[in-house]
Amino acid sequence: MARVAIIGGTGLNRLRDLEIDHREVMHTPYGEPSGPLTFGRLAGNEVVFLPRHGTGHTIPPHQVNYRANIWALQHIGIEYVIAVAAVGGIRKGLGPATLLLPDQIIDYTWGRENTFFDGDREKGVTHIDFTYPYCARLRDRILHAARENGIPLVECGTYGATQGPRLETRAEIDRMERDGCDVVGMTGMPEAALAREAELCYAAINVVANWAAGRGEGSGEIRMEEIEQHLERGMEKVRALLEAVIPAL
Ligand code: HPA
Repeated sequence: MARVAIIGGTGLNRLRDLEIDHREVMHTPYGEPSGPLTFGRLAGNEVVFLPRHGTGHTIPPHQVNYRANIWALQHIGIEYVIAVAAVGGIRKGLGPATLLLPDQIIDYTWGRENTFFDGDREKGVTHIDFTYPYCARLRDRILHAARENGIPLVECGTYGATQGPRLETRAEIDRMERDGCDVVGMTGMPEAALAREAELCYAAINVVANWAAGRGEGSGEIRMEEIEQHLERGMEKVRALLEAVIPAL
């Protein structure tokens, strides 16, 4: 039985090298996950793949059913979750196609279903520890795999999660930079917190798709065609990193 799941984001709706075994439509107490879970083998190892935005990339970040996705993975016995997500680069040096392994999060999202502990009067109130939001064990394995295989990876950074689906204003990015955010994305929360509540060992690989608003050369508008090209370059590296790390889990 697979112990590792990959949640694919924008630019990774499909795992090209996955040898597919079967797909499973799941129903959860929280509704439907983003799509059927795909069971298969990557680099000879069993994995489960779930595209966060649906198979046809139709679910926007604020409408992803994060609870159903995480519940489904926990329910089938997954232990490790590697979440791949496109981001905008805020900090200098985090230009397009860079890979980052974030170690911190600041959550600016609102109105999302963000907990499994929704006031069960019998069990009482539950607060999970979230000081270090990503699983250290999995981060270490990913770092090690990147180093061993010569895959460039920025080893830490703070992920700022925005509501979307619109991109940010320049002033919003200025504020996020003052707050200490290194990258900005729209899907990292509540996914990471739910994974912690579900006691899954969860880490994220961020792929910089564009300079965040008002950053980078020219600092003009953000163009979607450019994002797609950068993402494709970045995802090649992600595929290599996944193939390197999965056998070690
Ligand atoms: N902002 C928010 N989310 C993103 C961006 C961005 O600039 N690029 C990719 N995901």
